[in-house]
Amino acid sequence: MKIVLLGAPGAGKGTVAKLLTDYDGSVQISTGDILRAAVKEGNELGKEAKAYMDRGDLVPDSLIMKIMEARLQEDDCQSGFILDGFPRTIPQAEALRELLKRLDIRLDMAVNLDVPKDVILDRLTTRRTCSNPDCQAIYNIKSNPPTAEGTCKKCGAPVIQRDDETEKAIMNRLETYNEKTAPLISFYEKEGLLKNILSLNSAETVEEIKKYLAG
Ligand code: AP5
Repeated sequence: MKIVLLGAPGAGKGTVAKLLTDYDGSVQISTGDILRAAVKEGNELGKEAKAYMDRGDLVPDSLIMKIMEARLQEDDCQSGFILDGFPRTIPQAEALRELLKRLDIRLDMAVNLDVPKDVILDRLTTRRTCSNPDCQAIYNIKSNPPTAEGTCKKCGAPVIQRDDETEKAIMNRLETYNEKTAPLISFYEKEGLLKNILSLNSAETVEEIKKYLAG
């Protein structure tokens, strides 16, 4: 599959993307995970991105497009990809459209995960993430807790709260989403690619996406 996952912070893009990778071997490409791994490594990309991320602001489009242009041409993308957290602005969506045209790749669809705001706020304050950059499994202290010792069930690394999970950063991420990312819903509607799913249960959402893919 070749799909874009849209949705507010905490809508469940990462959770749904990870479930979808089991379906047909498509890779999850999360710009958030790529950036967090770079911050942890302390490389140039990480140094540049960290301040934006901690505030809950978007990282500049030029930096994101440089990452994604290279990433989408890696071999593992040939069997398909699930874009999680990208594109995030209209310029990114336009640049992606041009890039895919150039690479002769056709998107199957853009899925918008529609989740009520009170559910989103609750999910973001209760999320925990595996600190191992190669794992980054997503947990929730209410709906999907890690081990009683606070470690990852998959790799055993400590499970942590992200640096952008302060109340101030969460509010800023939601405002940034409304201003810069929500307009992508109409962008993909005009492209004839939009599927809107009321997403309260990730497993059911995955089944709906599979049905759309099967046509
Ligand atoms: P990113 O990592 O993309 O963060 P985000 O969009 O804010 O999304 P989240 O990861 O917070 O949420 P999610 O929708 O994946 O939800 P999840 O599955 O974890 O980006 C972080 C930062 O990086 C940005 O702020 C920006 O600075 C930068 N960045 C990244 N991409 C960029 C780009 N393209 N351009 C510019 N800057 C960029 O679920 C949330 C919680 O809910 C979890 O605890 C989960 O267990 C739980 N949950 C999920 N589904 C359910 C369910 N159905 N029922 C119960 N609980 C559920």
